[in-house]
Amino acid sequence: MGKEKKERIVLLSKREIAKMRRAGRLAAELLDHLEKMVKPGVSTLAINDEAERWTKERGAKSAPLGYLGFSKSICTSVNHVICHGIPNAKEILKDGDIINIDVTPILDGFHGDTSRTFFVGTPSPLAKKLVEITKECLYRGIAAVKPGGKIGDIGAAIQEYAEGEGFSVVRDFVGHGVSRVFHTAPHVPHYGTRGKGKRLRSGMVFTIEPMINEGTYEALLLPDGWTAVTKDGKLSAQFEHTIAVTQDGVEILTLRD
Ligand code: MF3
Ligand code: CO
Ligand code: CO
Repeated sequence: MGKEKKERIVLLSKREIAKMRRAGRLAAELLDHLEKMVKPGVSTLAINDEAERWTKERGAKSAPLGYLGFSKSICTSVNHVICHGIPNAKEILKDGDIINIDVTPILDGFHGDTSRTFFVGTPSPLAKKLVEITKECLYRGIAAVKPGGKIGDIGAAIQEYAEGEGFSVVRDFVGHGVSRVFHTAPHVPHYGTRGKGKRLRSGMVFTIEPMINEGTYEALLLPDGWTAVTKDGKLSAQFEHTIAVTQDGVEILTLRD
């Protein structure tokens, strides 16, 4: 999400982080489950509907549904869609597409926010490279997190790697604090300067969710008010984890068991 937030950065207790871990694990399991549906001929709405059913069955709620007027339970962003694509019955996956599925179940009051980009059938070499580099961007961003470091360390690590591979980093959407609230402080840009920005402290919980483009980083918002697309119509990929800053480094909260 992209809105500047002025809230204080909250530090979570061990107990709260344990709840975030449970929500995060559920989110990761949901993506594992939905991945099995990613095939040519499937609509993004069918994936949404299965996500909603699976989430409810586990006593959780889909955070996106009704969030600021969003009408579906997950975001599905295909090819040149950067993020916040709205699942639709008329959008049918075809061989060679890439699709980011972004899920956020709320379990016991806490949000687990994670996304991955999947291949539909066989990807082009370029799509494969973009998706692999984007995943590596997420892990390099995570590796830059340690208590005493700065928020800017994360974006610098991601930007250097993405641009070094000839791709660009989306500016209009950033990672965010997440806990009982879906989107809060801090703002976590996926570009920036090492040593700049707020200090990272043990107990901070936020997402890192780089959106990496094949061409320009510039984005356009479609008239539906949600779907963000690349200005040049070229591909965009994204991976997201929710993480906690720990006493000696970082813990990924959105991992399967
Ligand atoms: N899960 C998205 C994120 O990573 C936010 C989706 S908001 C929605 O922040 F309303 F579009 F669902
Ligand atoms: Co998300
Ligand atoms: Co997020």
